[in-house]
Amino acid sequence: MKKLTLSGTTTRSEIYIGRGLLAEVSARCLEVFSPSRVHIVTDSTVAPLYLEQVQAQFDLPTSVTIIPAGEEHKRLSTVEQIYHDLLAAGMTRKDLIIALGGGVTGDITGFAAATFLRGVSLCQIPTTLLAQVDSSVGGKTGVDLPEGKNLVGAFYQPRLVLIDPDVLNTLPESILIDGMAEVIKYGYIADASILELIANYRTHLEEIIYACVKIKCDVVSQDEHDTGLRMILNFGHTIGHAAEKLGGYTDLTHGQAVAVGMVAAMQLSNAMGAPSDLLPALMEHLKQVGLPMELTYDREQIFHTLLSDKKKFGGTVNFILVRTPGTAEIVPIDMQTLHQFILKL
Ligand code: NAD
Ligand code: GLY
Repeated sequence: MKKLTLSGTTTRSEIYIGRGLLAEVSARCLEVFSPSRVHIVTDSTVAPLYLEQVQAQFDLPTSVTIIPAGEEHKRLSTVEQIYHDLLAAGMTRKDLIIALGGGVTGDITGFAAATFLRGVSLCQIPTTLLAQVDSSVGGKTGVDLPEGKNLVGAFYQPRLVLIDPDVLNTLPESILIDGMAEVIKYGYIADASILELIANYRTHLEEIIYACVKIKCDVVSQDEHDTGLRMILNFGHTIGHAAEKLGGYTDLTHGQAVAVGMVAAMQLSNAMGAPSDLLPALMEHLKQVGLPMELTYDREQIFHTLLSDKKKFGGTVNFILVRTPGTAEIVPIDMQTLHQFILKL
């Protein structure tokens, strides 16, 4: 069992990573919280797999919300349903909410926990690779609006995150691969030793998760509210988000979009002085896990979609570049330069 701590400006998260941790949920929770009741939120795919095992451990009254699986349910009406269930269960501010599931469940539940009665304690139990290496750690919570993804939300740190790599055994291959895009991202932006594990990633999952979460903790501890350093976690996401949006969030998964976005960001890094062997190295890593590399959308459309992205500010976009594996730079790029670059991709 390994432990990491995220120390934000006013918050602290304890993160445990270890195989078999799902059997210790109640014990770990009661070390950190003193609730009278526990409410578990999970989704319709994860519930039949893991809900009973978690719920049965508590000697306290427990209640459950099972949300329908899928990004299309990451919306305010789902949060409202959770509020009704929390009230019906008699949950108070002293009680505990557990998010058991992937990033969708984690983001929705985190937002419900942040806002119900102005904040109830939260434990995240992530069950996808993406949620284990990224979304369960760092306190970004929220839901989508018809106008776009993650437009409503709050920073709200879970005081406890329990990561059990064994739950990934039931994850469909394509969803595991999707999470590998974020893993490769961490390798390029912060710790090149992760890249040595990519070719045989299935046998190194626990080590990989620890290395990624360590980076996330270090970064978020320094910039909890995403005003500077935390932006490095967006390597590949600027063009990736534009491609994801252009594909109507169905043509490309998030991981696939980040993969093609990282290739574009590496091309930009090359144009700004990165050694020329970095791009083929990144492409080889993406190939090893089965992620795409080619941006298939019209370049003008990519640029115009990117312009409406929430990360644009003023006349420049903060782009994340990698000129040395394991080191990211935040480089403001003016719109005209970016437009010319995207047209040449
Ligand atoms: P997801 O939660 O939809 O999970 C993918 C699918 O896997 C779902 O159908 C789910 O039911 C199923 N599943 C989950 N765990 C399983 C398991 N162990 N076995 C079998 N099936 C399982 O998607 P995701 O990829 O985990 O997360 C994507 C979401 O995360 C997006 O909404 C994205 O915006 C968000 N996100 C948030 C942050 C953050 O910092 N908060 C960071 C990155 C992504
Ligand atoms: N997933 C990016 C972040 O947490 O900032």
